[in-house]
Amino acid sequence: MSEKNNKPIHGQWSSRWVFILAATGSAVGLGNIWKFPYIAGEYGGGAFVLIYLVCVAAIGIPIMMAEVMLGRRGRRSPINTMRALAKSEGRHGIWSWIGWMGVAAGFFILSYYSVIAGWALAYVFRTASGALQVTDSVTVKNIFGELVSDPEKLLAWHTVFMVMTMIVVARGVKHGLEKAVRLLMPALLILLLVLDGYALNSGHFGEAVDFLFTPDFSKLTGGAVLTAMGHAFFTLSLGMGAIMMYGSYLPEDASIATTSITISIADTGVALLAGLAIFPIVFAFPELEAGAGPGLIFQTLPLAFAQMPGGQFFGTLFFVLIVVAAWTSSISLVEPAVAWLVENHGMSRIMAAVWVGLAIWTLGIATIMSFSSWAFEFNFLGTVKQNGIFDLLDILTANIMLPLGGMLIAIFAGWMMKVKHSKDELAIGNETGYQIWLFLIKFVAPVLVFIVILNLFGVIG
Ligand code: TRP
Repeated sequence: MSEKNNKPIHGQWSSRWVFILAATGSAVGLGNIWKFPYIAGEYGGGAFVLIYLVCVAAIGIPIMMAEVMLGRRGRRSPINTMRALAKSEGRHGIWSWIGWMGVAAGFFILSYYSVIAGWALAYVFRTASGALQVTDSVTVKNIFGELVSDPEKLLAWHTVFMVMTMIVVARGVKHGLEKAVRLLMPALLILLLVLDGYALNSGHFGEAVDFLFTPDFSKLTGGAVLTAMGHAFFTLSLGMGAIMMYGSYLPEDASIATTSITISIADTGVALLAGLAIFPIVFAFPELEAGAGPGLIFQTLPLAFAQMPGGQFFGTLFFVLIVVAAWTSSISLVEPAVAWLVENHGMSRIMAAVWVGLAIWTLGIATIMSFSSWAFEFNFLGTVKQNGIFDLLDILTANIMLPLGGMLIAIFAGWMMKVKHSKDELAIGNETGYQIWLFLIKFVAPVLVFIVILNLFGVIG
């Protein structure tokens, strides 16, 4: 039986354009605006950024194409898609474990992602009320410190964000998501450009460009390389089946290569714009440091908004847009699990969303406490991490589970699948293009991931 004739059971995007919007909505999120600047700062800038960009191009784009292709061919949740494709390619059913690991990774990621989105929610109100109209960096730092050391508040915001996410998931991703992305993503881009315009005139833009784009390889630790690669997966939503799931709704006639490249460029652009907005502020205030950690944007952006005309309004809007960006990402983190519960257990979407949401909400408490009474420090390949379980969850998912999932997806698409099938499904139309993809997916992506992971265990380097 050819998988090609599968009908999608959860419905289909109305066009390729809607898929691009949804996948971009999934990719662009806290990873771009919150995480990229703080890890770039933590790992010393330029060299880290360069490795991240190379990973996006050489590993991210080919694996995104593979995920979309597998999803569209399988037309089910990642667990069942991998099982069905393994079977039709004459391979062992164990390949469905890619889907299981993805479900676990999605749960872990959303458990902390939602807590951080909760910080952004809190900042919407703080900015709107004028509480953040302060131009002194120590006060801004203290306001952030008070928020994260208040578990009740964090729990309340985490709860609000989880409810928001599960409502959209319960209704089905295709309703509502489209409008949110079509309108609000361009708005986010415009505000980022406003911030960059402001940064450009602040007198410290050159320093920021230098920091982000002049590689200093002496700063490159094993942890930096692993984190840069892990972030390429994280920011593109790869390695856990999210894009595979979205691909399963993709119409038959859409070009997978063009789509994947467009999404990756948009996502990378947003991250770089965010970095260029934030580092000039860091360098303008001697009390701020590039390596400030997860609080970086919350300790810098308010300072820019407090100084610019209309800053209270723009600041409020900006945090609203960060929440929306996080919202359209968080949905994709649970969609594979929810779709699987609907497929295999005949659950309604609503019940599936409730159970999944409750489990993740509970797990989120560990992250909440990581910023106060459960905080502990540890050394991660040369970098001191200060927020215990939160950092461990982040390292486990972004730096280990996603690259591993991505490597297995690459091996499946490149080695387990018949060339005729992948060529047919990708339909690149140009033989050289297909051969480049095949080379990247068979050799480059799996080998690079493997080397970096060996590095984690101290086997090399
Ligand atoms: N890419 C999103 C961001 O950058 C986060 C995200 C959404 C994600 N879905 C994912 C990360 C799936 C890994 C896997 O904020």
